[in-house]
Amino acid sequence: MNTSTRNLSKLKKAARIILVGPPGCGKGTQSGRLLDHFKLTPISSGDLLRENVRNRTPLGIQAETVMRSGGLVQDSLMVKLIVGELSKRGWVETRGNLTSGICLTGPLSVIGGPITPRASDSPTASFLLDGFPRTKNQAQSLDSEVAMNLVVNLDVPHDVILDRIANRLVHEPSGRVYNMTWNKPKNPGVDDVTGEPLTRRPDDCPETFSKRLKNYAEATGPLLEHYDKAGVLWTVSGSTSDEITPQLDAEILKRFG
Ligand code: AP5
Ligand code: MG
Repeated sequence: MNTSTRNLSKLKKAARIILVGPPGCGKGTQSGRLLDHFKLTPISSGDLLRENVRNRTPLGIQAETVMRSGGLVQDSLMVKLIVGELSKRGWVETRGNLTSGICLTGPLSVIGGPITPRASDSPTASFLLDGFPRTKNQAQSLDSEVAMNLVVNLDVPHDVILDRIANRLVHEPSGRVYNMTWNKPKNPGVDDVTGEPLTRRPDDCPETFSKRLKNYAEATGPLLEHYDKAGVLWTVSGSTSDEITPQLDAEILKRFG
């Protein structure tokens, strides 16, 4: 039995994990590996936004300018997008009381205080969030929908990150990530799975990227503090994804295996 197959059967309870880390730290790369190792289905806020931009949805049109400038999309839009997606996939119970046109969950006001949301403890209800929440506000909104039980803070040195972004290529439709030095596609310029062309992300140019790093630095302190207080924060450090992956796998097995 290989490692991946062995690990799949080792999740004994639901893992609801958030990956937090600066742009380019390897969140997308780790998500792909966790899907492979534990069948942990990821939702990437950035990928979802880019899909909305491609499909010219009202949300995508609104988010496009902000993303291109390296800013953060409005909290209310992000919560609507992600909670809507969680609800669509059946990972949170739908109560449909938050927004018109989309079936969302939301905090219930009742005499005696709010009802704490309950989530299934079955390992099949496991999932992974990449890039959401990114602000304390978003975290508080998510708390009222579902209790996340592990927040992974990916701590990667800045100089490493800058070098990676300069070499990143993506397959936009799937979110698959390549690197021209480290993780080249089998055939230059095309996706390994579909053979479709790879592109550079428009927000990876140096000027926009430095804005993204600055925004990250500003929003992250309060976010990490929030999850530290909740007792679910775990930090992992490393210069490469290969250093981080075995530590992350071991932590997940320790907590949920
Ligand atoms: P998003 O798409 O989430 O971008 P990000 O957080 O800036 O992170 P990236 O996707 O750039 O990096 P990553 O950590 O996934 O790294 P990767 O695995 O690709 O968000 C984009 C925008 O959407 C935001 O700027 C914002 O506007 C908006 N947005 C999204 N969520 C939001 C939210 N919640 N609230 C408000 N706005 C939101 O790796 C990077 C590179 O490194 C790759 O080339 C990879 O191949 C390479 N690499 C990985 N591991 C190694 C290694 N070991 N050695 C060498 N290279 C490696
Ligand atoms: Mg990413």
